[in-house]
Amino acid sequence: MMKKNMVIAIDGSSGVGKGTLAKALAAYLKLPYLDTGLLYRAVGRKMLEAHVSPESDEIIFFAENLEEKDWLRNDLRTPEIDQAASLVAANPKVRAALLNVQRYFARQKGGIMDGRDIGTVIFPSANIKFFLKASSRVRAKRRWLQFADPVSIQNEEQEIDKIEAELKQRDELDSSREIAPLRPAEDAILIDTDHKSADEVFKEVLNKVENHNKS
Ligand code: DC
Repeated sequence: MMKKNMVIAIDGSSGVGKGTLAKALAAYLKLPYLDTGLLYRAVGRKMLEAHVSPESDEIIFFAENLEEKDWLRNDLRTPEIDQAASLVAANPKVRAALLNVQRYFARQKGGIMDGRDIGTVIFPSANIKFFLKASSRVRAKRRWLQFADPVSIQNEEQEIDKIEAELKQRDELDSSREIAPLRPAEDAILIDTDHKSADEVFKEVLNKVENHNKS
């Protein structure tokens, strides 16, 4: 039995497999799904487009008035927006505006929320919290496989090195910012995905959700 308006928090760093897991869980449990990174990406995109600083009033206004059409675009996953999103994510006023968007999203029917601070800040009383971990090398390899260009296959190790360096740089920004840094909530269940397939992670997490619902 599903608990009514259940909120499931899935936090972790870039490329750890949160999105894959959250989408599969949302489809299985028939819960709404929000990839909260897209909210920061939408604001980061605006920053690049408007040529303004991450602290500017224009950026705060945009975050306060964010609409679904701003984050449901398919052009938000570029390396430039990766960086820009990390910058706007360190602005407390942007985070405060996006906190409202995230809480509003799950208010009606609950939801599966994937992000960095869902369990610690956005939904400290989520029904169940997961924190996914994987080494930077494994995350870089997964990302490379996702976007690999068959033409540059001979440069595999160099490409993976480059992706790993970028992931580490974003991890550093996300973990060292003063506000809502990336860290597991005290009551989060830690899942190390290094040696597990997406399907194994899904089954492990589903099992924990089902056991939680029985209790
Ligand atoms: O998960 P992602 O790579 O799409 O996230 C983009 C950026 O947004 C990343 O730098 C971390 C930040 N972010 C955040 O600070 N809090 C969240 N809940 C989600 C993402």
